[in-house]
Amino acid sequence: APLDLSKEVLIVGKSNVGKSSLINALTKKKNLAHTSSKPGHTKLLNYYNIDNSFYLVDAPGYGYTATGGKHLDNFGKMMEEYFDNPHLKGVIHLIDSRHEPSKDDKDFYAFLKESNIPFIIIFTKVDKLNQSELSKLNKRRKELFSEDLTLLSDITKEKCLDNIRVEISRLALN
Ligand code: GTP
Ligand code: MG
Repeated sequence: APLDLSKEVLIVGKSNVGKSSLINALTKKKNLAHTSSKPGHTKLLNYYNIDNSFYLVDAPGYGYTATGGKHLDNFGKMMEEYFDNPHLKGVIHLIDSRHEPSKDDKDFYAFLKESNIPFIIIFTKVDKLNQSELSKLNKRRKELFSEDLTLLSDITKEKCLDNIRVEISRLALN
């Protein structure tokens, strides 16, 4: 059968949350997606072919655009155009596990809830949490995201990544 690469799963989250790093970890290709400790690294949508079965799409962090400045409006405009796209099968919304969701996190989450697009919430960098931060995170999960599928991510743990791979494939291929 011909390859069907018309399916896309978008990865979104604030700058520096770990979008590009997660793509590299999932694909086991260290430098496939560009990562940086400076926010605003990924400037445009980048498409990564996953096992010839769908594309993972790496987005810039919210608040940053190709001009490098803080332009939430431009991000919103780019996303609006992108979301009007029949190939989009689902969204992975990344949120930093160490902090309360920011205003931008909440706005994007509200946008997702209103859309008809299936999505998963992934809390990143859980390896950085101590016990008390971990229990805060679990409390937040229950209070704010009880209706949603939420996963925890530590890109150094293969078990974590396997779990995430399964759920992303489900999103992409259903
Ligand atoms: P932009 O492209 O600027 O929007 O950022 P991004 O969301 O793509 O973040 P990126 O993947 O570049 O990662 C930012 C920083 O977070 C890098 O220094 C990564 O090494 C670090 N990072 C990402 N995931 C993890 C994780 O699971 N654990 C830890 N400890 N660090 C992580
Ligand atoms: Mg990036």
